Amino acid sequence: MSRDVEDHRIHNNSHNVPFGDIVERHLSRRQILRGGLGMAALSMMGGFGLAGTQRALAQGKTPLALAFEAVQGSRTDAIVVPGGYRAQVLIPWGTPLNARAKDWAGDLAMTPEQQANSVGMHHDGMHAFPLDPESASRRFLLALNNEYIDQQALWAPQGGPTQPEGVRPADEVRTEINAHGVTIVEIRRQDDGSWMHVADSPYNRRLTTATPMLLSGPVAGSDYVRTRYATDGRRARGTNNNCANGYTPWGTYLTCEENWPEVFVNTGERFPDDARLGLPTDRGRYGWETAAGDGEQDDEFARFDVTPGSGEATDDYRNEARTFGYVVEIDPYTQATATKRTALGRFRHEGCWPGPVRAGEPLTFYTGHDSRNEYIYKFVSAAKWEPADAPEPGNEADRLAIGSKYLDEGTLYAARFDEDGRGEWLALTPDARTPSGETLAAALGLAADDAAGIIIHTCDAADLMGATPMDRPEWSSVDPVSGEVYFTLTNNAKRTADGTEATFTNGGAAVDEVGSGYATAPTNAANPVADNESGHIIRWREQPDNRFAWEIFVFGSDADAETNRSGLTRSNQFASPDGLWYDERGDGQGILWFQTDNSDNVVADYTNDQLLAVVPGALSAETGAGSVVGAGNQDGLKRFAVGPNGCEVTGIFATPDRTSLFINIQHPGNWPADGDALTQDATRAASGQVRPRAATVAIWKEDGGQVGV
Ligand code: FEO
Ligand code: CA
Ligand code: CA
Ligand code: CA
Repeated sequence: MSRDVEDHRIHNNSHNVPFGDIVERHLSRRQILRGGLGMAALSMMGGFGLAGTQRALAQGKTPLALAFEAVQGSRTDAIVVPGGYRAQVLIPWGTPLNARAKDWAGDLAMTPEQQANSVGMHHDGMHAFPLDPESASRRFLLALNNEYIDQQALWAPQGGPTQPEGVRPADEVRTEINAHGVTIVEIRRQDDGSWMHVADSPYNRRLTTATPMLLSGPVAGSDYVRTRYATDGRRARGTNNNCANGYTPWGTYLTCEENWPEVFVNTGERFPDDARLGLPTDRGRYGWETAAGDGEQDDEFARFDVTPGSGEATDDYRNEARTFGYVVEIDPYTQATATKRTALGRFRHEGCWPGPVRAGEPLTFYTGHDSRNEYIYKFVSAAKWEPADAPEPGNEADRLAIGSKYLDEGTLYAARFDEDGRGEWLALTPDARTPSGETLAAALGLAADDAAGIIIHTCDAADLMGATPMDRPEWSSVDPVSGEVYFTLTNNAKRTADGTEATFTNGGAAVDEVGSGYATAPTNAANPVADNESGHIIRWREQPDNRFAWEIFVFGSDADAETNRSGLTRSNQFASPDGLWYDERGDGQGILWFQTDNSDNVVADYTNDQLLAVVPGALSAETGAGSVVGAGNQDGLKRFAVGPNGCEVTGIFATPDRTSLFINIQHPGNWPADGDALTQDATRAASGQVRPRAATVAIWKEDGGQVGV
């Protein structure tokens, strides 16, 4: 999301050794390894094993290679893709999803009804769900996050929002609420290779920040989430700031609530978790709470003011914000009520990505908290995977009941990255022992069996267990063959030079005080860059006994920087990696795609946000030096696409046959070119000023071949 609305301040006051410290130490160790320890070092480092390319060669198969010509940086109001590729605008904001919405026009006045029946604003994470296996590459349901809103574009025909700093009109607030959330829309490929949405598909659906949802898992039914609306603590209204996403083996979509604290306000005494997560104390981001009063229905606006009243919790909305901050499961094939899976933790969730799916083993989901010096988490299901639980695409099945089996019971862990290239998953259970020997429940001041309290205070629990504060965890993706996990760490202006002390929020409160977090944190091995402006990508492989072996995959940088640790050139310089997808292509090989959300630096002066690709190698068998700092594994990193001015490039998947790749363009400044058309050439620039619209972009090869190779 754009920097004027995102809030990645540090709300983490813990004493944990920051990842930056660990990385510098780790780097020097890696440099020693590169000096000749070779295969011995490789196994010492955890046995990352042979690269896919090496595996392919060993099997006499053709190694995967990126066959497109890298595009140069661009700063125009258009998409740039390599020669031989087409790029098409698809389902821009406001595209009608049924007959209740009017046709889009550049001067269309948005209303609550119109917005509830058309594509939401500011596309982010997304995933495709086929309707049947045979046509999966030509027809599918697209589930799409609509992260936040651009009020100027939303209210362009009337010149902007009414009283943005004062009392907001009810219908404007309803419209803004309906522009958030998730869009489900059927998509089909046409004979000429282009794509279109199915305007009258019965699957088309919106879920907004007002849609009724269920709470499940440890928090459901607890005192933490009882409100005047849901006195039973089992229901919630809406999902908000849905950033990245995930999906399950049983065909459901996971949408993740990231910057939701900002839509609330608490002008009274805040809970520790309100303070840690950054709830505003004067006004919600859009002042939705100001529309409360005569004319509202069922406290639809009053609920955004979570200031405690003088009565019981069920008399007011003090707990409303505690019904947000979760991973939400949606069945894209039905109208079933979406369910917030609280077992996966409560924080500013970026996304939620599945690990390898193996019969008879628990399922694993990786998830991260995108704020400075916050943590990476892993959820491991209690139930072991049974392949019979994966229904055929599109058939009748109670997918959310399957979701309850795997996502409501399990163990949530936070990651500690050690300086020796190893790490440990720290269980966040009431009876876990903190480094000081207390139970986690006691350290948090909770009852001994308060599993719900652990989830409500997930970040504090991770502090107390000694997790490593990271450089803003964004997207993850898992190579399903090797099991290697990739994670983008986008940037961190509050990472201080090695040797400096961490500082804490809440006026110097120590990290083991609930509700505090790191305001600044010194560098560590896994976050080794002070004032990390350009970010990096880390990866690891799981090991037995909740251990893992990690390394840094690539560092962002501008090509001319003195500290260009990964040897980037103008053809692949990047900063602030964010979206990421490991695109498995068979033979154990794949393309790692990643996207950027960058601004205000040398790379931004050279190019708009972009999509890059690389065929990842594994630890170098020759040197054991891995991919850290110019070891050569990233020599093949190439820029594949550049977005229009002002945008962020985010969200990614491809058709199963890999002949079309889909990305999202979020918050463009003056794009797409034709303000009235629903589908159009994404590479064309407007001749004047248009009402900007976030949109999905479909990219395919003119010769019909696989994208990227
Ligand atoms: Fe919504 Fe962390 O990006
Ligand atoms: Ca952004
Ligand atoms: Ca993001
Ligand atoms: Ca971002």
